[in-house]
Amino acid sequence: MGPPEEVQCRLARCGQSHLLRFWAELGPAQRGALLAAVPPGLAEHCRMAAAAGARQREPPERLDGRMEPLPTRLLGSARRSGPAALERWEAEGLHQISQNKVAVLLLAGGQGTRLGVSYPKGMYNVGLPSGKTLYQIQAERIHKVEQLAGQRHHCKCAIPWYIMTSEFTLGPTEEFFVEHNYFNLDRSNVVMFEQRMLPAVTFDGKAILEEKGKIAMAPDGNGGLYRALVDNKILDDMKQRGIQYVHVYCVDNILVKMADPVFIGFCVSKGADCGAKVVEKAYPTEPVGVVCCVDGVYQVVEYSEISLETAQQQSPDGGLMYNTGNICNHFFTVEFLETVAQKYEPQLKHHVAIKKVPYIDEEGNLVKPLKPNGIKLEKFVFDVFQFSKNFVAFEVLREEEFSPLKNADTADKDTPTTARQALLAQHYRWALKAGARFLDENGCRIPEKLSLSGTEDAPAVCEISPLVSYFGEGLEAYMKNKDFQSPFVLDENKAEILEKGGGLSLK
Ligand code: UTP
Repeated sequence: MGPPEEVQCRLARCGQSHLLRFWAELGPAQRGALLAAVPPGLAEHCRMAAAAGARQREPPERLDGRMEPLPTRLLGSARRSGPAALERWEAEGLHQISQNKVAVLLLAGGQGTRLGVSYPKGMYNVGLPSGKTLYQIQAERIHKVEQLAGQRHHCKCAIPWYIMTSEFTLGPTEEFFVEHNYFNLDRSNVVMFEQRMLPAVTFDGKAILEEKGKIAMAPDGNGGLYRALVDNKILDDMKQRGIQYVHVYCVDNILVKMADPVFIGFCVSKGADCGAKVVEKAYPTEPVGVVCCVDGVYQVVEYSEISLETAQQQSPDGGLMYNTGNICNHFFTVEFLETVAQKYEPQLKHHVAIKKVPYIDEEGNLVKPLKPNGIKLEKFVFDVFQFSKNFVAFEVLREEEFSPLKNADTADKDTPTTARQALLAQHYRWALKAGARFLDENGCRIPEKLSLSGTEDAPAVCEISPLVSYFGEGLEAYMKNKDFQSPFVLDENKAEILEKGGGLSLK
C-alpha cells in the first residue's frame, strides 16, 4: 500500500516527496510514526530555514552605530554596590523565598553536542571528589537556600524547580531523578516539561531523513521556553502555587547560584519585570554576547555583530565600554512571562545553527557528514529583553558564578576540567576565608595561594557540599583554625562532627 494520497500531494507541493522515498520498506508502526511526525507547517519551516541559512552565510549585520552600553542606573553589582545594599537585597530575596513566591527554571533541553556525551548534560560528573553530577549540585543548592530562607523567617518554604527538557533529555532526566530519589527534594516541587522540536533542513530547503522512516528533529532552542510554558500549562501551575518571580538558568554552569537571594532581591527592589546577570568580559574579543541597548531597547548583541573597534572601545573608567557579558541567568516576573508567551513569542527571531546532521542518502545508507550540511532554527531565551518595561542587570564575579561546561576535555576552555577547577578553587577560597588550614599527605602545611587563575588547580583540594554552605556562609563554625588533609570533602556528616567540636581523622 502506498502512502495516503493527501500526504503525497501535500509533500510533493512543497518539494518534500523524498521523505516518502523508503515508504515501501517501512513497517506499519514506522509508517504511522513518519506520518505523525510530518509537522503541519513543514513547507513554511523548510523555506524559512533555507532562507535563514543563506542569510547566515552572508556577513552579519553590524550594530555598532546603533548600540549604547546599559545605563548605570539599571546596573547592580556584587563588586561595586556597597555591603549595605547587598545585604538589603539578600534580605529581600530571602523574604520572597520564605513567602513561597520564588521558583527556579532550568533550561535542560539542549543536545550538548560539543560535550559529546549520549546522556543529558545535567547527569555529567566533572570529576569532583564527591562524584556529584550537575543535577545533584543544583538540587542541593535549592535545598540549602530554602533552608536559609526558612531559618531567617522561622518557617518552612519551598522553591519549585521547573525543568525544561526535550525529546532527547526528558526520559533519561526523569529516570535519573527517580533513581536518586529526587535528591531528597519534595517530588511535587520538581516539575519536568518538554519543549517542541523542529525539523533539521538542508541548505536547499529539504527536511532531512535521519532514518528511513524518521525526520531529523532538533529542539527549538532555549527560547522554545515561551511556547513550552503555554503548551504544558506551566504558567498556570506557577500561579496556582503563588509564584511571582522566576530565576531561569542553564544546566551547564557549575557555579550557578540557584534562586540567588541577592539577585532576586535586587530585581524585586527595583520593580523589574526582567533582569539579567552579567559578568565582566574577560578580554575584548571574548565570544560572549553583551547585554546592551540597541535603538533604545535592551538586547544581547553577539560578538559577531560588532566590529573589533567597538569590542575594544574603552569607557572613561578604563574598562571596556561593552563589558556586560551575558551568562544566561535571568529573572522574570510570572506576569512578564505570561505577556511574552501570549503576545510576543511569535515576534522572537529565529537564530540559525549550521550543524553536521547524519542522514540517509538516496541509496538508503546512513551518512555521517564531515562538513555541516543541516540548518537548525532556534529561538533564544534572552531575546525577550526588548519587551521588558523595567529591565535591570546585575554584575557578578565570574570566578564566583560562571563556569560553563560546553566542551569535552580536548578543548581548552569550558571543559569538565575547567568546571571542576572553578568549583574547587571557589571552595578552597571559602575554606581559607573561614580560617581553615590544609595539610598534605605527610601532614605538612600546604602554603596558601589566594589568587588563582581560572585554569589552575588550587594548592589543596577542598569540596564543600551545598547542603553545608550555599555561598561560603557559615563555614567558620566547622573550619576556623582547623587542619584538614587534602583532599577534603566537607559534607553534612563531617560538618555535624566538626560543629560539635569533634575531630576528624585526617582522611
Ligand atoms: P547551548 O546553546 O550551550 O547548547 O545551551 P547545548 O545543547 O547545551 O550544547 P551544544 O550547543 O549542542 O554543544 C545553553 C542552554 O540552553 C539549553 C541547554 O540545555 C543549556 O542549558 N537549551 C539549549 C535548551 O534548553 N533547549 C534547546 O533547544 C537548546
